[in-house]
Amino acid sequence: MRQFLSYFVRYTRNKKMFAIVIGATTLIFLIILNLTMFSYGGDVEVVSDPKGSKGTFDRLTSLLPGSSSKITDDDKAQISDNRHTIFDTAEHKSYLTDLFTELIAVQPDFDSLPSSYPKAPEMAPWDDHPVLSYNHLSEKYLKVTDHQVNNLKEKHAEFLAKILNKKSKVHFANHGDDQEHFYIENSNGIVYVGGGRYSWFALLSIKHLRSIGSKLPIEVYIPFEEEYEKEFCEVILPSMNAKCLKIYEILDLEVLKDSKFKIQGFMLKSLAILLSNFENILLLDADNMPYLNPDILFVSEPYQTYKFVVWPDYWERTTHPKFYEIQGLDLITENLKLKDPNTGQPKYSSAEQIKSEVPLHDLKGTIPNPSTESGQLLISKKAHADAILLSLYYNMYGPNYYYHLITQWAPGQGDKDTFLAAANLLNSTYYQIKTTVKAIGYHKSNGEFRGTAQGQYSPIDEYNFKTYHKKLLAMYEEDFCMQKGITKKQLEQSKTLQEELEEYQKIQIETLTQFSGEEDEDKALKDYYANVFDLPIKLMFVHESTPKFDPLDLILNNQITNEENTERIRFYDNVLTDPGYYSFEKMQWQYIYDLLCGSEDERVHMEFISKQIENFGDRYDEEKFCQAIQDEIDWIGSR
Ligand SMILES: *[C@@H]1O[C@H](CO)[C@@H](O)[C@H](O)[C@H]1NC(C)=O
Repeated sequence: MRQFLSYFVRYTRNKKMFAIVIGATTLIFLIILNLTMFSYGGDVEVVSDPKGSKGTFDRLTSLLPGSSSKITDDDKAQISDNRHTIFDTAEHKSYLTDLFTELIAVQPDFDSLPSSYPKAPEMAPWDDHPVLSYNHLSEKYLKVTDHQVNNLKEKHAEFLAKILNKKSKVHFANHGDDQEHFYIENSNGIVYVGGGRYSWFALLSIKHLRSIGSKLPIEVYIPFEEEYEKEFCEVILPSMNAKCLKIYEILDLEVLKDSKFKIQGFMLKSLAILLSNFENILLLDADNMPYLNPDILFVSEPYQTYKFVVWPDYWERTTHPKFYEIQGLDLITENLKLKDPNTGQPKYSSAEQIKSEVPLHDLKGTIPNPSTESGQLLISKKAHADAILLSLYYNMYGPNYYYHLITQWAPGQGDKDTFLAAANLLNSTYYQIKTTVKAIGYHKSNGEFRGTAQGQYSPIDEYNFKTYHKKLLAMYEEDFCMQKGITKKQLEQSKTLQEELEEYQKIQIETLTQFSGEEDEDKALKDYYANVFDLPIKLMFVHESTPKFDPLDLILNNQITNEENTERIRFYDNVLTDPGYYSFEKMQWQYIYDLLCGSEDERVHMEFISKQIENFGDRYDEEKFCQAIQDEIDWIGSR
């Protein structure tokens, strides 16, 4: 027995193998359970199952992923579609002039909302924090006057009316018979905002994308003329099927020069979506490293259905209630109309109760929690022109008005929540990933965790899990009807039977998950599906926030060792060193080595790096610097 155990342990070290063993064990258990149930039915009516255990097995395996994650030849053609032209037509310029003329026309009459007020703190759903009620969110942080609210509301309504009027000039569809001047139909591509150090980060990210097999064309938007780098834009990027687009040239419009808009900061991502040539866009922050090849996202669910996918942040929403009023929503009246589905009585007893007791973002009509992390975003220009235009409005008037209303200085204030703020009002379809963002980092010698990046998961896998879960519930419903000898119709007509079914499904699922040792049922189910189907929800993006891959800073300021300088550290230790993960971190050091220390044809000249070399002066010695990077690569490789 001991021998068998050690054999078992040795062969199950491999995680995949372990998953299969657990999966198989669970399946066998289920089959036995089902057989037992069928033969010793007890109270349950015994219905003969002609296929017996085989039937159960078939039905379980029929829950395997559908076609969504399997790429067809058509999909492949779409993925490698690299038509990639820049529009620079008179028609495009005239459209942009019209759009910005309309945007400027709805400028609020007062300069700005206050920008210094007590900041909304970091509050995760699992933290102990006050109820973020209507009253709390309107009294504790930003204070707005009725005059300000009324003025913003009036201007917002004006612009919204233009968006809802499909014939107005703000719509790109209204210029020319087709969209050819505004995006390339059916094209998919990846978009970054570069410039300064962001061009360097984007280069690392693009190099990585190409090395993990991504074939999609890429656009890098350069905000300002002084940030345009000839070698980067004209040699390096084109060699990787990527190109620079110059925001400062495309938006070199008379109407903007005379306005008070200063194109800057968080507006840029929203502008990049507006200006992109692609119909279907994956917008990535420059410091976002795709962990898996994202090309498949465009041809899979949930993107195919929703055409708009956003990823979650850690934090609760802290949107000011007056934002909804400015949008023209009357949350209180709408929520007072709601009925409790069980009792038929009003869900809330009074406006005062809604305002003081209920979390604002539990109310119908608000943007669902948690807030958004916009380091990656998938959107279709064709399907979501309205939301793109309205979020552009929130961004152009972001720094002085809407960023404050939407976020109240909670962490990450900026463009991140403007996309859903628009989609929510317009009833747009969107898919908000539910798998919680993963805190990636390492443990310091004192045991304290230091976060270095946000890990975001594959929406395809998550969507498949939802599909399995639905199928599993449907399977139990079928079992239930069979055992009771009733039809689906009879079930639908009886509340009692439905309640019994719910109880039955609950017990079945508890049985499935009780052996996982995981208390959180949702997590246990995910583990179960992952084991049975060998398909965990995979990490897809690593948003490298602190530190960023600024190699001179990392090496010369000694950031690659712990605080006592006694040991090297892995930035992404808690996730990416799991068995089965590839050497993600090492690859990034290798790119840096090739780009800065490699052979003549590998080396590049990037402004950001030259500036850093200048800043470090005598402390920079190329030979030592390159040796330090090589040492880091060797060290990680030996782990
Ligand atoms: C969104 O849906 C609500 C509720 O059905 C409706 O009242 C509202 O007019 C819709 N908004 C838009 C912009 O279509």
